[in-house]
Amino acid sequence: MTRVLQVSAELFPLLKTGGLADVAGALPAALMAAGAEPRLLVPGFPAIRDALNHECAVAPVALPWSEGRAALLRGRLPGFDVPVYVLDAPGLFDRPGNPYADAAGVAYADNHRRFALLGLAAARLAEGVDPSWRPDIVHAHDWHAGLACAHVNASRSRRRTEARSVFTVHNLAYQGLFAADKFSELGLPPTHYAVEGLEFYGQVSFMKAGLQFADAITTVSPTYAKEIQTAEQGCGLDGLLRHRAGVLHGILNGVDYGIWSPENDHAIAARFHVGDASGKAACKAALQREFGLPVTPDVPVFGIVSRLTEQKGLPLVLEALNDLIDAGGQLVILGSGDARLDAAFGDAAARHPAQIARRTGMDEGLAHRIYAGSDVVLVPSRFEPCGLTQLYGLSYGALPLVHRVGGLGDTVVDTTLEDLAAGTATGFVFNAFTADAYRRALRRAFALWSRPEYWARVRKAAMGQRFGWDEAAQRYVEIYRSLSQS
Ligand code: ADP
Ligand code: GLC
Repeated sequence: MTRVLQVSAELFPLLKTGGLADVAGALPAALMAAGAEPRLLVPGFPAIRDALNHECAVAPVALPWSEGRAALLRGRLPGFDVPVYVLDAPGLFDRPGNPYADAAGVAYADNHRRFALLGLAAARLAEGVDPSWRPDIVHAHDWHAGLACAHVNASRSRRRTEARSVFTVHNLAYQGLFAADKFSELGLPPTHYAVEGLEFYGQVSFMKAGLQFADAITTVSPTYAKEIQTAEQGCGLDGLLRHRAGVLHGILNGVDYGIWSPENDHAIAARFHVGDASGKAACKAALQREFGLPVTPDVPVFGIVSRLTEQKGLPLVLEALNDLIDAGGQLVILGSGDARLDAAFGDAAARHPAQIARRTGMDEGLAHRIYAGSDVVLVPSRFEPCGLTQLYGLSYGALPLVHRVGGLGDTVVDTTLEDLAAGTATGFVFNAFTADAYRRALRRAFALWSRPEYWARVRKAAMGQRFGWDEAAQRYVEIYRSLSQS
C-alpha cells in the first residue's frame, strides 16, 4: 500500500478559511477506501494543537535560523482514522485566528519561515525521522505546502530519501511570494534559487516551488487545469505549467456527503431528500425567519456563502441587484473578507430590508442552513478552480447560478430548453463575465421559478447529482502508484 503524507495548512473541522479545509478533511478517508495509506502533516495552530490526543514526540526539527524551537509530534485528531503529524512550533503557530494573517488581515511578516518549516518537516518525515512510518509520497496542497516539494527534491539529491512528491494547486492566485533575501532562511541549497527553481521575477515563490519540484502536479478541476496554462489565468506561471503539462492532471474535488446531505444534516430545520423534498419548505421558512425576511414560500430565495474577495464575482451581484429586487426575489448573504464588499451588501440590506439580509463572518452551521433554505445559490465567480459551494447547493436542491469558468462549468448544466427536456439541467450558467450575462441568467432563474413543475424537475436532477470522493481518490492513488514505481 502506498504510504502518502498529506501536507495542508487547513483541516476541516478544526481550522477552515475555505474549500482547502474541506478537501484536506475529506481526502484521508477517501484515500484509505481507494487503497492508500494516508497520514497528515499540519502546522500546530492552536485549534489543532488543542485537539491533538494520544500524542507522542517524534523528533525535533532543526530550524534554518537561530532562535526558537520546533518538533514533530504524532497523535490523533477527532474524526480522523489515521495518525496525524503536527509541527509544534509555538513561536510560529501559536497565534489566534486566521492561519495566514493577523486580526487586521495583514499577512504575518514571518510567513516564509512558518511555511518553509512545514515543508522541511515533511522532508524530514520522508527521510524517516519516524522509524515506524515513512511516506513513499509527499502530497502538498497549495503554496503553504509548496516548499515540501523543494525540500523532498533536495533530500533526494542528497540520497536521504526515495520519496516522490505531488503538488495540488487549489488556487493559483495565492502564490506565497517573498523578497529574495528571505531565501537564505528556507533551508534549501543555493541552487534552488534559480529560474528553473523557485525564483519568480526576483522574488521567492512557494507556489512555483511546488510546480517546479513536484513529480506530479494536480489541480482541482479538468477545466482549471487547462485555464492555468493560458496567459489569462496563468498568473505568470502558465509557461511553466505548459512546460509541465505532461505531468499535470485536473481532478475534480468531491463532496463529503456524510457532512453535506440534507437527508442526515442536523444543522438544518428539517431533513429532506431527492425522493421527498417537502422538508425544504420548512428549511426555507426557518431561513427567512432567521434573517428577518418575510416568510413567504412563493418568492425565490437566493443564497450566497462566500469569502468576500475579487475572485468570487460579487460585484456582478451588486451591479444587478435591482433586477433581483424588481423581480421580487430575496437575497441572503453570509460572507467574510473584504470590508468594502461587506459594507456594500450591508448598505443594500439597509435599503431593502424586506428583501436582502446579510451576516458577516464565518459560520459553518449557518452555511448549511443557507444551502438548505435557498432556492438558488449564486456563484458568479470571475475564476473558480473547483468551487464547492455550487456542489453543496446541488446536494441541498439550491440550484446553482454560476459563471462558466473552472470547476463551475464542469459541474453545473444550464437550464436550456434541450437540457430541461432531457432532464439534465441542474442550474443556470452564464458565459461572459459581464453584468448583462449575469442578469440574463437571473432572468432565466425567475422564468423557471414561475413554472413550479419545471422548477421541481430541475431541482430533482440537481439533488440527484453525485460528486463523491471515490473517483478523485482513485485517480490520486493511480498517480501515487505510478510515481512510486518510477
Ligand atoms: P474557496 O475555497 O475559494 O473559498 P470553495 O467553494 O471551494 O471556495 O469553498 C468554500 C468553503 O467555505 C465552503 O465549505 C463554504 O461553505 C465555506 N464558506 C465560505 N464562506 C463561508 C462563511 N462566511 N461562513 C461559513 N462557511 C463559509
Ligand atoms: C480553492 C479554490 C476553490 C476550490 C478549493 C478546494 O480555495 O478557490 O475553487 O474549490 O480551493 O480545492
